[in-house]
Amino acid sequence: MTTPAPADALRTLPDSAWDDTGPTRHVEHLVEGGHVLHFPHLAFALQPGEARFLDPAWSDGKSKNISLRGQNELRGAQGPAEDLAALQAMIRRFAAQAQQLVDRLFPHYRGKLRAGNASLRPFAVEGRESSWRKDDTRLHVDAFPSNPTQGVRLLRVFTNLNAAGKPRVWRVGEPFADFAAHFAPRLRPAAPGTAWLLHKLHITKSRRSAYDHAMLQLHDLAKSDAAYQRSAPQAAVDFAPGATWVVFSDQVLHAVMAGQHMMEQTFYLDVADQLVPDIAPLRVLERHFGKRLLLTA
Ligand code: SIN
Ligand code: FE
Repeated sequence: MTTPAPADALRTLPDSAWDDTGPTRHVEHLVEGGHVLHFPHLAFALQPGEARFLDPAWSDGKSKNISLRGQNELRGAQGPAEDLAALQAMIRRFAAQAQQLVDRLFPHYRGKLRAGNASLRPFAVEGRESSWRKDDTRLHVDAFPSNPTQGVRLLRVFTNLNAAGKPRVWRVGEPFADFAAHFAPRLRPAAPGTAWLLHKLHITKSRRSAYDHAMLQLHDLAKSDAAYQRSAPQAAVDFAPGATWVVFSDQVLHAVMAGQHMMEQTFYLDVADQLVPDIAPLRVLERHFGKRLLLTA
């Protein structure tokens, strides 16, 4: 399997239905190979009364997303209970459609993908203040300090809901193996006992593995390296309103430069359940270092 150069990262498919009225696609090899699956005609249809939820005023102001955890736990939103129930129903409908889509795209993953949170992202990307580490306008792979994955894959479904014609503008970077090789000389093992202590102090939700430690460093090294951000191989990609895209965001270097109003659903997949487990970031890093990375550091 070959990995794509940035300008070749997108694979565009004509689907216009989320559910199984569309064809079974069998595109595991494309998404595992680092492609972004792009569906320009796959819109999330708002129902009457739902357009109002695109207003950032429904956010509680504390988090940048409004998220649905499981079926019933809405986070990051504020407003009268009746409205929040309608907002929750909208996000839940998106989550259900995202599930139908991945089942149809990836028959090999059926029954194996675990749904994580779904979110509505109502704020404009432009002009958002944040620390460099949280700044998603810089190329990065997704890795989160409090959420060790132990190598489990992060598959994400995004859809642009903007009503004013504004695209979501991304940059997509070089293949994961090239990125890892570029920064690997700067990776350092965690100090002994760190993973235990972080978990004990509830800073992490589970033990941070050597893999998670490496991925966090890769995330930070990329974001803090201005020359890399400027000069690394990359391509700009516009996702128009009404477009949906699907990507392994722990593998594909990405950055968001502009846009407003998006929904997102996260799925988790065990490496062993991939079509080709060997090309998972975990396996790429293990080959690079010549050792297993899942023993906690
Ligand atoms: C990200 O995962 O970096 C955010 C993508 C986006 O907001 O479009
Ligand atoms: Fe990201």
